[in-house]
Amino acid sequence: MLDKLNEIEKSALESLAAITDQAALDAWRVSMLGRSSELMQVFAGLGKLSKEEKPVVGTEANRVKVALESALAERAEAIKNAALAKSLEEEKLDVTLPGRSVNIGRLHPSTQQLRHVLDILAEMGFQVYTSREVETDEYNFQLLNFPPDHPARDMQDTMYIEAGDRGDNPILLRTQTSPGQIRAMREFAETNPNDPPPIRIASPGMCFRHEQITARSEIQFNQVEGLAVGKNITFADLKGTIADFVRRMFGEGARLRFRASYFPFTEPSAEVDVECFVCGGKGCQVCKNSGWLEILGCGMVHPVVLQNGGYDPKIYSGFAWGMGPERQLMLRNKINDIRYFWGNDVRFLEQF
Ligand code: DAH
Repeated sequence: MLDKLNEIEKSALESLAAITDQAALDAWRVSMLGRSSELMQVFAGLGKLSKEEKPVVGTEANRVKVALESALAERAEAIKNAALAKSLEEEKLDVTLPGRSVNIGRLHPSTQQLRHVLDILAEMGFQVYTSREVETDEYNFQLLNFPPDHPARDMQDTMYIEAGDRGDNPILLRTQTSPGQIRAMREFAETNPNDPPPIRIASPGMCFRHEQITARSEIQFNQVEGLAVGKNITFADLKGTIADFVRRMFGEGARLRFRASYFPFTEPSAEVDVECFVCGGKGCQVCKNSGWLEILGCGMVHPVVLQNGGYDPKIYSGFAWGMGPERQLMLRNKINDIRYFWGNDVRFLEQF
């Protein structure tokens, strides 16, 4: 029996020495010291031993039990310390590493460009006039000389707002910043109806069109509208102003050309192209081999529009233009997909 106890002790200590994790240790405890372990069987069998054998075997069994228990405690401690050392190693903190920099935000590229445009126009004497994004059909179209069934309305698919039956004057999201022309003229004219003051404004803001969203068209985009009204304003003033703007915007050497065009609210109307700054006018993919890039529409304010704004077209004249800051940025930076602007991809936004 004593030999058996020695055998139990020896093999238990051997298998304990190989254990390196808590789960194996728990299993070892159950099999070596648990109710049905060999050692506990020895204790259970003590009663059947002779009077002489009993104290000897009992004492030895107790010694083995105490030895295994203390070996177990020692092993448990060693496993715990090893785990701690490992986690310290893994979670080692290198205090010499540079800190993580805080990502400070920035203005959206459209806003940056919008401000750049307005800065230039402010230097040229144009004051910012903000108008509304939610408009009526009257201001967005009719007062700008688009009658209800005018074919030019097809150029701008419109998003309407449900606001009951308003006949031929529904509420809509402005498709252009041009209704700001009427609002500005009426506001200025009101200050002195008999002799309305001259106007020089730049009116920026978001416009909306019910378009299929593609690389080239979005349902929202910014425009900057320019308007100058006064006495003796001629097409020469329009040309000079636009040429000055283009040089400030695209550089001293930028060449530009006026191309006859049509808008219902201007007469005559023109579109302005700048020489392609990608290829210098030689023709490339960006300018579709024409050497020119269209940047804005403009014209002399139509007499009907002046009248609608409260300015007598026999006394006053004016010019206006409209352009898109996103388009300018796309041309400048060779951005080939307008969807980047509202896609909220920081990899795009961070470049500006
Ligand atoms: N509103 C026009 C558009 O969205 C742009 C425009 C053209 C504005 C000529 C003007 C202008 O003021 O004179 O297509």
